[in-house]
Amino acid sequence: MNTPRSKPLPGNLVNLADHEAHARRRLDDNAWAYFNGAAADGLTLRANRTAWDELTLVPRVLGTMAGGHTGIELLGHQLHHPVMVAPMAYQRMAHPDGEIATALAAGAQGAGLVVSTQASARLEDIARAFVTLPPASPLWFQLYLQPDREVTLSLVTRAEAAGFNALVLTVDAPVTGVRDAERRAAFRLPTGITAVNLPSSRPGRDGHGLAGGLAQSTATWADVEWLISTSRLPVILKGLLHPLDAKLALSLGVSAVIVSNHGGRTLDTAIATATALPRIADAVGDSLPLLVDGGIRRGTDVLKALALGARAVLVGRPIIWGLANAGAVGVAHVLRLLIDELEMAMVLCGEPSLAKLRPDLIDRIGTSNRSR
Ligand code: GLV
Repeated sequence: MNTPRSKPLPGNLVNLADHEAHARRRLDDNAWAYFNGAAADGLTLRANRTAWDELTLVPRVLGTMAGGHTGIELLGHQLHHPVMVAPMAYQRMAHPDGEIATALAAGAQGAGLVVSTQASARLEDIARAFVTLPPASPLWFQLYLQPDREVTLSLVTRAEAAGFNALVLTVDAPVTGVRDAERRAAFRLPTGITAVNLPSSRPGRDGHGLAGGLAQSTATWADVEWLISTSRLPVILKGLLHPLDAKLALSLGVSAVIVSNHGGRTLDTAIATATALPRIADAVGDSLPLLVDGGIRRGTDVLKALALGARAVLVGRPIIWGLANAGAVGVAHVLRLLIDELEMAMVLCGEPSLAKLRPDLIDRIGTSNRSR
């Protein structure tokens, strides 16, 4: 393992970009290619960032901030704040404590946690480590439909028994995508790190092309209906970008949608999530809770996401950076930075409550959003 546990977190990491630069020095090329890599030319990866940057805030002044807070309601949970941890595979590749450290930190910071099907720790152990202050933060299980329904069912049953509150079905990665960085680095999982919740005979998702990936067992809308009818947990779809798919999801009884392009890791040149979000919000109105991920790096990004119709955001790579930098403490620090920045942004925009944010907080400029 490439990261000793006892290294202190340097005092000069003041934002998520600082965490990224520091993590680059701590992770080897193999792990870096996996965690920070993207599909093909990385255009969607970059567009996710620039699309948030190109949205400018139009703040209000002199309003009272008395009683202000970052809380918001989502699927029956009263969130302490709208920042959640995105599902990410093989976290023990970033730090020996892996997903357990992430769960401890998320719980301590009142952040919701989404656990990957490809976690490198047992989902029951992760759930046990996720101790939150009341009101309990959401704990969701990210699901890839498995080629064998029995395997999918056993994952669902385990997640239900372990206390997960929802299933997050990822629908944008029937194949892994053209991962140039991983191929260049000849990426391999280090010995001893595996997707421990899957049967060991299970073919990996890391093959390329229609044959090597999971194309033969790609999920369809019929599978979504099956999952909804099979599990007592709410089903959330992750990886929608088209308003028509969001409408379909709503009509089938999906409980929430995560507007996502998989952090630019699957289809390169896919639309930036900050651009897709308001279009989907327009299509489904208030009837379907929306979340968004992709390029969220600042408290102002979180505020913009909520103003454009999201109820929460998910953060991915920055969690890995924090984990690589200092295990649970590093993850907690990344979350704290983002939440503190969000509070600052709310005050400076004259917004005491996230529930009341309106799109008029945002002026759309720049090329990513020119069609609106
Ligand atoms: C897995 O979902 C990945 O993006 O590598």
